[in-house]
Amino acid sequence: ELSPQEKAKQRAGFKAAEYVKDGMTIGLGTGSTVAFTMARLKERIRDESLTIRGVPTSIQTLIRAGELGIPIIGLEQAEKINLTIDGADQIDPQLRLIKGRGAAHVRERILADISDRLIIVADPTKLCTELTGPVPIEIIPFALSHVQNVLIKMGGNPVLRDGVKKDGPVISDNGNIILDYHPAQKYNPMDLETAINMIPGVVCCGIFAEFSEKTTVIIGEEEGPRVI
Ligand code: A5P
Repeated sequence: ELSPQEKAKQRAGFKAAEYVKDGMTIGLGTGSTVAFTMARLKERIRDESLTIRGVPTSIQTLIRAGELGIPIIGLEQAEKINLTIDGADQIDPQLRLIKGRGAAHVRERILADISDRLIIVADPTKLCTELTGPVPIEIIPFALSHVQNVLIKMGGNPVLRDGVKKDGPVISDNGNIILDYHPAQKYNPMDLETAINMIPGVVCCGIFAEFSEKTTVIIGEEEGPRVI
C-alpha cells in the first residue's frame, strides 16, 4: 500500500508518461517520482507496442530501465532528445528548480540542456514560493578547498556531503564529490546558478533556472495531476 506522498508521486509520474509518443528518444531522470513514469512506460511498451529509447541520467535509472525492459542508448547514439522527464527537490512559481538530492544533477543538467522539452514530476511538497537552497554542487575532488573558499567568500556555508552507506564523502556517478551550499541570504536563482557554475573545479550546481522556458511541471495533487 502506497503512502499518500507516494500516491502523489505516482499520479504525477503516470501523467508524464502520457507525453511520450511512439519513436521518441526520452531523457530518463533520477529519483522516486520518475520511477513511476518508468513503470508506466513499461506497461505502454507492452500494451501499445510503444517504441522508445531512453537515455538514463544515473546508474540508478540505468539499472531500473534494465529491470523494466526499457531500451537504453548512450548519449552519443541519440540524434535528438525529444523529451526529458525528471524529478526536482524544490520548484518555484517561475518553474525554476533545485535538483541534486540524489547527486545526479550533472547528467540531469546535460539532458535538460539537450532536450527539446523538460517535464518535471513531483508531489505537492516540492512547490515553494522561493528557492531556499541548500544548493547541491558537484566538484572535482582536487578543487575542494578552492571551491569551499570561494563559496565562503560568497557569504554562505558549503557542507561536504557524507556517505549514507559508506565512510567518507558521497562519490557521484561521475567520480566526483558533492557540497551542499547554504547561502547566507536570499538569492537570485539565475545569478547564483551562473556564479557557482563559473568557479573552476565545479562541474555544475543543482539550481536549474535556465531551463524554465522549456519546462512543464506536473504535480500529483489529490484531485488529480495538475499541469503547470
Ligand atoms: C537527483 O539528484 C535529483 O535531482 C532528483 O531528480 C530529485 O531529488 C527528485 O527525486 P524524488 O522524485 O525522489 O523526490
